Amino acid sequence: MPKEKPELSDAMKARLSKKTPEKNPIKGTKFTIAISSAKGGVGKSTFATNLALGLKKIGCKVGLLDADIYGPSIPKMFDINEKPKSDGQKLDPIIKYDIQCMSIGFLADQQTPMIWRGPMVTSAIKTFTQKVNWKNLDFIIVDMPPGTGDTQLTFSQEIKMDGAIIVSTPQEVALLDVKRGIKMFDKLDVKILGLVDNMSFFRGDDGKNYKIFGDGGVKRTAEEFNKEFLGEIPINPAVGIAGDNGKPIVEENSDHEISKIYLEFSKKIKSIYL
Ligand SMILES: Nc1ncnc2c1ncn2[C@@H]1O[C@H](COP(=O)(O)OP(=O)(O)OP(=O)(O)O)[C@@H](O)[C@H]1O
Ligand SMILES: [Mg+2]
Repeated sequence: MPKEKPELSDAMKARLSKKTPEKNPIKGTKFTIAISSAKGGVGKSTFATNLALGLKKIGCKVGLLDADIYGPSIPKMFDINEKPKSDGQKLDPIIKYDIQCMSIGFLADQQTPMIWRGPMVTSAIKTFTQKVNWKNLDFIIVDMPPGTGDTQLTFSQEIKMDGAIIVSTPQEVALLDVKRGIKMFDKLDVKILGLVDNMSFFRGDDGKNYKIFGDGGVKRTAEEFNKEFLGEIPINPAVGIAGDNGKPIVEENSDHEISKIYLEFSKKIKSIYL
C-alpha cells in the first residue's frame, strides 16, 4: 500500500506560522492532558471519561474539561443535568463521581445546535480555562473535538498543555486524520504521550479475536512518527452501553476486563507525572 503523506492545509499552515502569545497554565491543576485524534467518532470522549475515572481510582484529583463546543459529550456520559453555579466572575465545576467537570452542555440547551463562529469558540475555551474554579487538581483531562481547528489551536498555542494522547481506530481513513493531528501537535510543541488503538478487535463468543478494522495500523503510525504506542482497547458493547447510561465502565464496574485496561493506561499516565 502506498504511504499516505497528509499535508496540513494552507490556512492551517498560515495560522501555525503566526506569532503565538504566551502559554498560560490552567490555574488549579498541576497537569493538563488533551485527548485528541483529529478523527471523529473514534472514542476520544469514551477514553477521556474512563481515563479520568481511572486516575481518580488510583488516588489522583481529576478534572474533566469537555472542549467539544459543537458536540459536548460529558453531560450525557456523566449524566449531568444541572447548571454550574457562578459568583458573577467564575463558574464552579460540577462534581460527579468525585471529578470536577465543565462542559458547554451544562450551560446551553443540549438540543440547541451551537452555531458558533471561531472567535466564539476561542472565547468559550478561555472561559473554561481561566474562569472556572478548578481546585487542587493533579490532572485536567481535556476531551477534544474532532479535527485540527480552532479548539486545538487555542489550547496548543495559548494554554500550557503538558501532554496529548492520540486515540484512533485502526482504519487507514482514521489514521490519515491522525497523522495530521500528530503533525499539528508537533508543530505546536505539545508533547504527544503516545497513541492508543481503540476498537482494535472484537473478541467473539468463540474466544477468537476479530480484527474488524484492520490490523496494527495505529502501532505502525506510532512507529512511523517516532511516538510511543500506549496499547489497545477492544470493541466491547458494554463500553458503549455504560457511556450511554451516564456511568462510564470504569465507574460502573472497575473489575470489568475493559476497565482494567483503562486502569493500566491511568497508572501509566500517573507514573509519567507524579
Ligand atoms: N472500545 C469500545 N468498544 C465499544 N464501543 C466503543 C468503544 N470506544 C468507544 N465506543 C463507542 O463509540 C462511539 C463513539 O465514541 P466517542 O463518542 O467516545 O467518540 P469521539 O471520538 O469522542 O467522537 P466525536 O469525534 O464525535 O467527539 C460511542 O458510541 C462509544 O460508546
Ligand atoms: Mg467526543
